[in-house]
Amino acid sequence: MRPVTPLSPTTPASDSRAARALATLAELSAELASARALETSIERILETVGATLGADECALWLHTPSGLRRGWGAGLGTFTEAHIRAGLISVDAVDAPRDLAVVPIVLGNRRLGALALRLVRTLAAEEQLLLTALANILAPELAHAERSRQLEVEVASRTQEIERGRRFTEKIIDSLPLGLYVIDREFRIQSWNRKRETGMQGVSREEAIGRTIFEILHRQPSAMLRREFEDVFSSGRMQEYQMESISSGEARTYRITKIPMRLGDGPVTHVITIGEDVTDWKEAQERFSQAEKLAAIGQLAAGVMHEINNPLATIAACAESLGYRIDDLEKSGVTLAPETHDFLGIIENEVQRCKQIVDGLLDFSRPKQSRKERVNVNEVVERTLFLLKHHVRFKKLTVETELDALIGRVPHANAEQLVQVFMALLLNAMDAMGDRGNVRIVSRRGDRPDAGAIVEVVDQGHGIARSELGKIFEPFYTTKGAGKGTGLGLSICYGIVQEHGGRLEVESVLGEGSTFRVLLPVVES
Ligand SMILES: Nc1ncnc2c1ncn2[C@@H]1O[C@H](COP(=O)(O)OP(=O)(O)OP(=O)(O)O)[C@@H](O)[C@H]1O
Ligand SMILES: [Mg+2]
Repeated sequence: MRPVTPLSPTTPASDSRAARALATLAELSAELASARALETSIERILETVGATLGADECALWLHTPSGLRRGWGAGLGTFTEAHIRAGLISVDAVDAPRDLAVVPIVLGNRRLGALALRLVRTLAAEEQLLLTALANILAPELAHAERSRQLEVEVASRTQEIERGRRFTEKIIDSLPLGLYVIDREFRIQSWNRKRETGMQGVSREEAIGRTIFEILHRQPSAMLRREFEDVFSSGRMQEYQMESISSGEARTYRITKIPMRLGDGPVTHVITIGEDVTDWKEAQERFSQAEKLAAIGQLAAGVMHEINNPLATIAACAESLGYRIDDLEKSGVTLAPETHDFLGIIENEVQRCKQIVDGLLDFSRPKQSRKERVNVNEVVERTLFLLKHHVRFKKLTVETELDALIGRVPHANAEQLVQVFMALLLNAMDAMGDRGNVRIVSRRGDRPDAGAIVEVVDQGHGIARSELGKIFEPFYTTKGAGKGTGLGLSICYGIVQEHGGRLEVESVLGEGSTFRVLLPVVES
């Protein structure tokens, strides 16, 4: 360490310097006291000090976690970190090297930085005092600024952490295949996930957040909405219900769940609403219950069929012998009532009809031990058409086929049964069109393993009312007049297609026509 330079004796020149130094110091203290922004006042201070002392460089260096760095000040950039380190001289020894003066800024035993000046002369004692005093004034300010900066860094890192957490939670709720939103006690939307932004009635998050649910879901009656939410707020219990919606353009079923949420231990503060599209699930359930119903009918039918078959056979045999007797009587000259033959005909026809119903029922009650082979669906369609060609009523229809030659083969299939399916569908189409019109049969490849082959029978008939669509696959459901339909056709088709691992679907518009779609699993041909 260099020796402390003794203060020079007071001379008139140094008097005026001392006065100027004091005045400058007072000015700088006032500046600092009134300054809000330390940064700009330090710039000004360095300018003033530089000008007062005639220094051609005046800078403030700072100790930072990453080492010494020049904080403020203008000049030639003469100083290096090594200068500051080497030149850090004791508070009262500011003279060396001759034209570089470095005054440390210290608070307690912490070195905060240094004032560095480049002069062409040695500093006078008063000037040294001025710099030392200035360093002492600046020390607490810099310490304070440093603390603020640390706090700022801490706040920034905490904010980042919170933001990361928020984004993570947002990502989770956005990735859910469900619509989700959260409202507070004032019915204001606090959260609105991605799924709620999409679709025909989607509302963007920016638009939804902060608005009341009544403003956003304005299509729903607000009194009803309010009641539903109030229920959850007051009871604290979860509510669940299903609703139908055609907002996406087609009828879909949603399961809505309202879940109470509490921020503290007290009452419910928020309600989370989740909307899940359960259309496919519901359809699967319906198919399942349909299958169960068919199985039950099958068992019932199997039991009853034997009981009915025997008396039917007896009636048929009796009618036949009666016929022979009548013939004999007529041959022997007996004149019988003219209706006798008609009555006999009616008995025979009706017995025949009963037998058809019985056979139909037995068909799906009997465990099938039919032949299983790989069957090409196109060939089945063509065979069905070949058989139907001979049907009188069918001759009046035009039948268009559009068969995809690359369709795969249905494994473990029974061609006879599949012919029966298409036959029943085509006969229904014919009935629906009153013998005239155009039926289209289209086969194409599906994109799922359990529905690799799709065959559609499209008619331009009277169609089926939406309310009736659920019933048409039920056994004995028919809208055809007495003697015209048993109502078993579609339920048998349903059973056969299901047995082949496929599905039977229908779409229909009343007054325009229907499409029956058979979906079957395939293996590549
Ligand atoms: N293509 C169609 N267009 C309009 N309605 C149809 C069509 N196919 C079926 N239906 C309706 O579904 C009902 C049930 O059909 P299903 O084939 O099971 O019995 P059915 O045709 O009445 O009698 P069956 O098939 O024993 O002769 C029909 O009575 C009819 O109301
Ligand atoms: Mg039918």
